[in-house]
Amino acid sequence: MANAFVAGNWKMNTSISEATMLARSLRSGLLGIDGVTQVICPPFVSLAGVAAELAGSNIKVGAQNMHSEIKGAFTGEIAGSMLKGICDYVILGHSERRQLLGEMDDFINAKVRTALETGITPILCVGETLEQRDNGEAAAIVQGQLQGGLLGLSAEQIEQSVVAYEPVWAIGTGRAATPEMAQEMMGLIRQEVGRLSSVGIASNVPLLYGGSVNTENCLHLASLKDLDGALVGGASLKPDDFVAITKAFGTRI
Ligand code: PGA
Repeated sequence: MANAFVAGNWKMNTSISEATMLARSLRSGLLGIDGVTQVICPPFVSLAGVAAELAGSNIKVGAQNMHSEIKGAFTGEIAGSMLKGICDYVILGHSERRQLLGEMDDFINAKVRTALETGITPILCVGETLEQRDNGEAAAIVQGQLQGGLLGLSAEQIEQSVVAYEPVWAIGTGRAATPEMAQEMMGLIRQEVGRLSSVGIASNVPLLYGGSVNTENCLHLASLKDLDGALVGGASLKPDDFVAITKAFGTRI
């Protein structure tokens, strides 16, 4: 069974000083919670400050994006090598980037490969829109995004990755997937990851659910068979809530 895993995606929130203060509160709040991999993903400009604040703790730092190229003329972009040493994780293929910035599976796949080659663990996000779900296409869309995102990876590389299922309609809406919906899709994801690697490897890949995870639904979500953890947006900006959510996944058997 994969380790319990909770990541906070701060998105485009917090000033540099707010980020440091938030990291400080999380450091004391999360102290002593064992058995859960804990990752926080602040904006790029706060990565170094947050990493310094968390030095010596169990909390890992992740970036919210990176470019697929190693270096060069890509104005405004950040390379994996620039993150190395600060970040252990990077969120890739988030639906906000897919939808608002037009990121496609082949670009996301190139980023996933570069992340792994750089020694940074990708958190690959997949998830359908409401329209796709209403049309009965959710499973096919998620399967396609997994195949596209993990294309060409060796089984060992897949084992070093994390997958987050984030239905677009549940992100930031307060309307989380029901536990039944989440389990159904996470089961399919586990199966697809197994098909792309092996059943044994798939059982070790942390599968996260994201989309309006909060202090009220986290215990139920944490009890689901194929759900190893959560990718938390809004609630990750509230230290008490993020700590409660992390504790809930720590109780997962
Ligand atoms: P949310 O965001 O928890 O605010 O819905 C989740 C995410 O986008 O990662």
